[in-house]
Amino acid sequence: MHGIPPFLTRLGIQLPIIQAPMAGVATPQLAAAVSNAGGLGSLGIGPSPVAQARQMIEQTRALTSRPFNINLFCHAAAQPDTAREAAWLQHLAPLFTAAGMAPPSAINAGYQSFIEDDQTFDMLLELCPPIVSFHFGLPSADRIEALQQAGICLLATATNLHEARLIEQAGIDAIVAQGIEAGGHRGMFDPEADDEQLSTSVLVRLLVQHTRLPVIAAGGIMDGAGIRAALDLGAAAAQLGTAFILCPESSANAAYRQALQSERAASTRLTACISGRPARGMLNDLIRHGEAAGSPPPADYPIAYDAAKQLNAAASQRGNHEFAAQWAGQGAPLARELPATELVQQLVAEWRGA
Ligand SMILES: Cc1cc2nc3c(=O)[nH]c(=O)nc-3n(C[C@H](O)[C@H](O)[C@H](O)COP(=O)(O)O)c2cc1C
Repeated sequence: MHGIPPFLTRLGIQLPIIQAPMAGVATPQLAAAVSNAGGLGSLGIGPSPVAQARQMIEQTRALTSRPFNINLFCHAAAQPDTAREAAWLQHLAPLFTAAGMAPPSAINAGYQSFIEDDQTFDMLLELCPPIVSFHFGLPSADRIEALQQAGICLLATATNLHEARLIEQAGIDAIVAQGIEAGGHRGMFDPEADDEQLSTSVLVRLLVQHTRLPVIAAGGIMDGAGIRAALDLGAAAAQLGTAFILCPESSANAAYRQALQSERAASTRLTACISGRPARGMLNDLIRHGEAAGSPPPADYPIAYDAAKQLNAAASQRGNHEFAAQWAGQGAPLARELPATELVQQLVAEWRGA
């Protein structure tokens, strides 16, 4: 038998399987079940107020003594632009009317980036989760150093080699290579930059060849054969998001689960019109309307997200789920409805048998 590879030993896990952080979908129950099964469970606290984030970490700790990962958003602060927001709200006005709600007169950012969030930083230093990961960029060098000195292992998402090099230069411990197939928000540092839209397999090879850090493959991995392929490409572990949405431990609502189990799962779209940043989700009326010819640009992230959330809250009360953010990757039709422990066991059996 081979021993446990050094990177997994560093993370304190046995299996090269990471349940992706999924803000709004991953719960302490989900993360703890994956960690207890030998993988790495993750929680996305990007949009959570500090008290809620603290509670999620404490709940996870109560459910597992194994390592888990806490994920933060490091986007540039939202650029408020009253004219752009008004134009976006006006564009969405017919949808608000359909949802039985007057369009809001104003929308706001809703949550802070970790880059500016001192309270969350202090809370992390106090609670010291074993692993912390960053999406949309990196915090300051001071924060990186302080978290590492507290013994926290740090991961960060790259969507291209340039971002990976910035991550390496910043002294982060490993890179999450997020391909274009991935569900949820694309972790690109600058959403306005040219996007090569690299696939997970090309990106993993590039980062394995051109950086010295362990690479975690993310995007389109749905089963043990996918995990095996990622490891064969040189990845140290595979990070799966969409594969875990149907687990009963996730907080995906009934409409989201139903969509993922329907033909809709076969049509995902990378769009900025739900949140203001590119993210992949199942195609619905909000995306169709937001991307129709002649549409104005959405408000900046996460201001546009506030409008979409208000719209969805009103519409879903009437049983209309066409305006929801139902993030999912290109592999969505392969998602399985299994308890998280069984899913991890199944992934391992497939990977080892592959
Ligand atoms: C519902 C959902 C929510 C997500 N939320 C986050 C998040 O909060 N932070 C993050 O770093 N990545 C997030 N992601 C992206 C994942 O980390 C990962 O890159 C992606 O799920 C991999 O692709 P897959 O969905 O095809 O497995 C999310 C993905 C999904 C599907």
